[in-house]
Amino acid sequence: MSQPLDILGGISAEQFLSEYWQKKPLLVRAAMPEIVGLLEPEDVKQLALEDHVTARLIQQHAAQQWQVKNAPLQPKDFKKLAAHWTLLVQAVDHFSLDLAALWQKFDFLPQWRRDDIMVSYAPKGGSVGQHFDFYDVFLVQSYGHRRWQLGQMCDEHSAFLADQPIKLLPDMNVYFDEILAPGDLLYVPPGLSHHGVAEDDCLTCSFGFRMPNPANLLDRVSDHFADNNSLKNPFVDLTRRPSQQSGAIEAAEIAFLKAQLIEKIQHSTDFDAVLASLMSEPNFPDHIPEADELTVDDLAQLLNTGFQIQREPASRLLYLPTANPAKFYANGEALYIDAEQAPILQRLADGACLDFDDQFLCPELDCWLDLINDAVLTLLEPQVHPSI
Ligand code: SIN
Ligand code: CO
Repeated sequence: MSQPLDILGGISAEQFLSEYWQKKPLLVRAAMPEIVGLLEPEDVKQLALEDHVTARLIQQHAAQQWQVKNAPLQPKDFKKLAAHWTLLVQAVDHFSLDLAALWQKFDFLPQWRRDDIMVSYAPKGGSVGQHFDFYDVFLVQSYGHRRWQLGQMCDEHSAFLADQPIKLLPDMNVYFDEILAPGDLLYVPPGLSHHGVAEDDCLTCSFGFRMPNPANLLDRVSDHFADNNSLKNPFVDLTRRPSQQSGAIEAAEIAFLKAQLIEKIQHSTDFDAVLASLMSEPNFPDHIPEADELTVDDLAQLLNTGFQIQREPASRLLYLPTANPAKFYANGEALYIDAEQAPILQRLADGACLDFDDQFLCPELDCWLDLINDAVLTLLEPQVHPSI
């Protein structure tokens, strides 16, 4: 963990996490040379036209006149465009195993924090305007050049331009102004205002990281707890104070009930399960490949000819290591995994790509079949996997 990482410009993960993560930006030149040449602007345009792909076409008609067209996009949307425009395509990592493999560069951050890799394509002058995001993002230039300006920190109270289809900031106090070339990376923490303008035909890949929000998490916790019969008995009243004002709920009574409720959550292992199931929900379920119908013999044959097994990039697979064996969750559901299979699945969930030769998939091949047929795991053709 303390070794210098090229992706972070030679600082360690520890130093990055204590000095930069969620706090301040980091520019790293030539951080990810492997991304160069992976995608061409035409690939991104073609992908944006496909079914189930989440894409937005953003046009800038005047300094403060923006237009957004959401997917489904059609070829006619790209005729008669404004002078400045940008195409944003979400979750391109679900369609390119080579791009998805680059997530490994960020293995110093937990996978459950990963969102998706959004790719933007813009010809010269194209931009999505000056804005901020609530997420951590590593902006990696993969083609052409983009000028990035960074400004003040913003929050939910920041004002936006009126009457625009996207949330744009009226001003930015620019203190950083750099042009990124292919392979360069800029880490932008949540809340930091940023503005990227294409210098030429350019592709930028945003490796986005998320956190659950309290509203969503509370909603799931309360759904789960509402189904739990042991929680349907009233709280025991330990306040035992003579009432001062019989018409009031007193502050001490409110504090007591709040503390009791928090205590129930604090001591419930259900919370772990709720969080694991929520964080394993796929953000783009339509991207998960249709169920396959491989047999054990098909699988044995494929593995014998050099195919490997890894996580399906569009699926989410995670585990709670505190149980023995670890408890696994995939695509919102708990998995039932036996003690022999668990350590191997744990390696796959950590991002390993496993061979049959290593005997990792023995003794029972059929215990892997459902996970592959349900597209939690996927088979990788020999030689397709890039070496990183
Ligand atoms: C872009 O790539 O143009 C926008 C990415 C971002 O600002 O988050
Ligand atoms: Co942004």
